[in-house]
Amino acid sequence: MSETVQDKVDFLVIANRLPVDRKIDDDGNVSWKSSPGGLVTALEPVMQRKGGAWIGWHGAPDEVVEPFHHDGYDIHPVPLSAQEVEEYYEGFSNATLWPLYHDCIVEPVFHREWWDAFQKVNKRFAEQAARQASEGATVWVQDYQLNLVPKYLRQMRPDLRIGFFLHIPFPPIELYSRLPWREELVEGLLGADLVGFQTPGAAANFQRLAKRRPGVTAARGRAHTPDGRTVVIRDFPISIDSRGFHELATSEKVKAEAIKLREDLGNPGTIIFGVDRLDYTKGLRQRIRAVGELFKEGKLDPHEVVFLQLATPSRERVEEYKILRDDINLLVGQINSKVGTIANRALVYRNESVPREVLAAMYQVADLMLVTPVRDGMNLVAKEYIACRSNDDSALVLSEFAGAARELKQAYMVNPYDIDGMKATIMKALTDSPKLKARKMRAMRRQVFDKTIDVWADSFLTELEGH
Ligand code: ADP
Ligand code: F6P
Repeated sequence: MSETVQDKVDFLVIANRLPVDRKIDDDGNVSWKSSPGGLVTALEPVMQRKGGAWIGWHGAPDEVVEPFHHDGYDIHPVPLSAQEVEEYYEGFSNATLWPLYHDCIVEPVFHREWWDAFQKVNKRFAEQAARQASEGATVWVQDYQLNLVPKYLRQMRPDLRIGFFLHIPFPPIELYSRLPWREELVEGLLGADLVGFQTPGAAANFQRLAKRRPGVTAARGRAHTPDGRTVVIRDFPISIDSRGFHELATSEKVKAEAIKLREDLGNPGTIIFGVDRLDYTKGLRQRIRAVGELFKEGKLDPHEVVFLQLATPSRERVEEYKILRDDINLLVGQINSKVGTIANRALVYRNESVPREVLAAMYQVADLMLVTPVRDGMNLVAKEYIACRSNDDSALVLSEFAGAARELKQAYMVNPYDIDGMKATIMKALTDSPKLKARKMRAMRRQVFDKTIDVWADSFLTELEGH
């Protein structure tokens, strides 16, 4: 494989983010950090295997970065101005579409200037892909931030095979219809040959909308457009590099890290663990409240049990994320001031991102994993936990509103809005017989090791390339 950046490639991924973000500190020092979130976790191994190019934003405003070669594939950074970051990324992507697509957990904000910026930036991504793609290349567009790219790209390069995958939920028509630009966004996706979703429900929601477009007929996962094309609409539940995670978690380095971590936490009898981006979709308020009450009621003993919660800062300038950060800080403070001692904190809360080895060590020491989003396209954390566990005496508490619940059926399911129900399920997961827990873990492990990220990518690309 070539080590220099290629002029044109046969396979392209376009995502809002690159797998690495460029960070510049106050003294002007530049460093690259792994980007947060499930999209990068899932697609990095696919790119390492297939090669080609990844087009995306490098995470810093007002800066042009030259293309470079990284881990077996080319990287083409797309520049965004500070105003575009505000209007396209923080605004339209994360204050309009994100809440709308997550069942309006918080109120979506609609601004016409944000829509203008969204169109402009989507065009820029499409132009970059049109330049980099060789004749007849396969282009795989990722996620809601680039919803209009399939249509723009088809106009520029009708020779390309274009796939689109939505990593987040797709809402029911009744909620989607609030969007002032709903027609344009549906048209945007119909520019693709294949539109993939995390669940069959999401695919069905989109098909219903597609059918409403003038001249479009749609049934059984196929939409026929007025220009004579067929767009396949299907679910492709995303996954992880299960073996990679398992090998990492069972490596000597991570085992040593796990021993140290357990010691740092005071060698408690039981460790409960949660790790998320600090996002209001993740159900952190409900989860922390539920565990806090169990401590306060004496059902969990702070001398015996520690709840470790990691929350990576995310979209920090968006209003609802600021509110969430303050709410969680307050809630954690309230709980720790009432339960535990100076030496024994009941709740260890870290507002940070950790390297993958440290995360693997955390999965290794966690007797109970809490994954309780109020809405989530898939949730890869749940799958990572299962892949990293070598000990059967562990349990996963999982929200029924995560896409992963369709596959990890043996998890301890909860409705995160039902705090009492969640408390009861947490206690059950802690006290059920080791035999029952082992049976559940084995079944979930089979699922996670059968349906890996390679299976996901291959099934999407086989469908796209056979189109
Ligand atoms: P989302 O894509 O909404 O962030 P997912 O659960 O699908 O949610 O993916 C999150 C990804 O980010 C996982 O791969 C997880 O390991 C990683 N991650 C989340 N929080 C942290 C953290 N604090 N430190 C390191 N990695 C994290
Ligand atoms: O997985 C959903 C997603 O929105 C990705 O598209 C994104 O990269 C990730 O979460 C993290 O969010 P952000 O890129 O806004 O930090």
